[in-house]
Amino acid sequence: MFQSKTKDNSSLSLKILLRKSFLGIGAVPKRVALDLFSGKGEIARRAYLDFPELHLVEKNPRQVELLKAGFAGLTRARIWEMDNLEFLQKHLPGFPGLSLVDFDAYGSPNKQIQAFFSACKIREPILIFATDGGVLATIRGRGISPDLYLAGSDQGWGAGYDPVIGRNYERMIRCFWDELSKRHNFRIELFKIIWKKGGQLAYYGLLIKPR
Ligand SMILES: C[S@@+](CC[C@H](N)C(=O)[O-])C[C@H]1O[C@@H](n2cnc3c(N)ncnc32)[C@H](O)[C@@H]1O
Repeated sequence: MFQSKTKDNSSLSLKILLRKSFLGIGAVPKRVALDLFSGKGEIARRAYLDFPELHLVEKNPRQVELLKAGFAGLTRARIWEMDNLEFLQKHLPGFPGLSLVDFDAYGSPNKQIQAFFSACKIREPILIFATDGGVLATIRGRGISPDLYLAGSDQGWGAGYDPVIGRNYERMIRCFWDELSKRHNFRIELFKIIWKKGGQLAYYGLLIKPR
């Protein structure tokens, strides 16, 4: 018996929908977009092509080849083949005109989010998008660092799924952002979360503004 299986594109569609819903309100001028987990550029191609400056950071050489092919000839797109933490430390300070940052991670992006705010003072409104699969990663056997949800240092604490963390995942994500907003002197004007995989994977977006 032959079976045809249709590809599930709902995750990508939801991510794009989330981004377009924020971009559609015109809350930030489209100037510089920074995609820190670019992959092969599916999101960037669909949502950020009309930014006059687009920076794509990706550490996997195979994905970088696809990025180069996909963005060939688009001079306003710059590809950085490197670890995003290194990018944030070395290149982010002094990066002018940033109006959008994308953290479409596997697992939790919180280490990169913290590194971003350590390197960049918020002076203008910025849109932030993230995918947080931290809880899903623990179900798949990877460790989680609760400290990463409390804006502390990464102590690499705990391995395996913790049902208390699983049940309070949304609260942890929101507390993480509340704490960051106090530490880095910004306010959160909009916060939308879309849940996937029974609450184990979050796609979210925020509009933040300087206090
Ligand atoms: C969920 S995928 C991103 C998909 C992408 N947003 C797209 O639209 O095609 C996550 C990507 O982040 C990359 N990545 C993971 N950790 C990274 C790091 N520390 N620095 C740079 N890239 C990283 C992975 O290689 C992977 O391609």
